[in-house]
Amino acid sequence: MDTLISRAVTDLKHARTAVALTGAGISIESGIPPFRGKGGLWERFDPMEIAHIDAFVADPALVWRVLVKELKEVIDRALPNDGHKGLARMERMGILKTVITQNVDGLHQAAGSTDVIEFHGTFAWQRCTECETRVPTRDVDASVLPPRCICGGILRPDAVLFGEMIPPIALTRSQEESSQCDVMLVVGTSALVQPAAFMPVIAQQSGATVIEINPEPTPLTGRISKFLVAGKAGQIMNEILSEVSSLIQSKKQ
Ligand code: APR
Repeated sequence: MDTLISRAVTDLKHARTAVALTGAGISIESGIPPFRGKGGLWERFDPMEIAHIDAFVADPALVWRVLVKELKEVIDRALPNDGHKGLARMERMGILKTVITQNVDGLHQAAGSTDVIEFHGTFAWQRCTECETRVPTRDVDASVLPPRCICGGILRPDAVLFGEMIPPIALTRSQEESSQCDVMLVVGTSALVQPAAFMPVIAQQSGATVIEINPEPTPLTGRISKFLVAGKAGQIMNEILSEVSSLIQSKKQ
């Protein structure tokens, strides 16, 4: 393990620009379930029935009942963990430039990251399907489902549902950051959902070193990523940062 941590630290130390791509795995230690694998949301619900735009149009109350219960309430209680805090600290140290996240929980920003690309939108805001007005989720009265905008339109999460496009600015910026970085940390994603899972491919094809942090291998492992540091995001981030700090200390002496 230590050798892989040291390799990651060396790559980060020599990087002009490092970015991170994150997925649900980084928020598991904050109590938010993943989508796939053990305890995953899609083990209990068919995503095409509760997270596809056609399902929302067909029965917005059903989608709200499930999404609200399974996501909003869990996200409302969640706090950033050492994984999120580690990436925010790397940004403050000038090691990391941008976080591209597939997560809609806002925990990177809550941890202090300032340049976060929300590739799949956010659950922190709801948007009116009629007038496009955006409302903070915390201000939405979910006692009547589906909740309505003051214009009478149905409110929906400002997140990307299956069957929908990635927000153009998020897509363009992510492609730019992926093609211009020297190191990409891929943290807590199964790398199964496109086009997010293509960002590490863009990075690798542009000459960057792709490093995965995940307890399990993914389709990127051994093909796109240079190596996988197998473990939980919080623990691995702490090990990387403690090695970076001791490096900085030794330099001062
Ligand atoms: N630290 C880091 N990674 C972890 C941890 C942990 N503590 N625990 C599990 N993981 C890894 C799993 O091994 C898995 O590879 O996190 C990954 C979670 O994968 P998914 O649940 O598939 O989540 P994600 O890759 O973000 O899904 C992509 O799919 O359902 C859609 O829109 C949704 O953004 C989501 C997208």
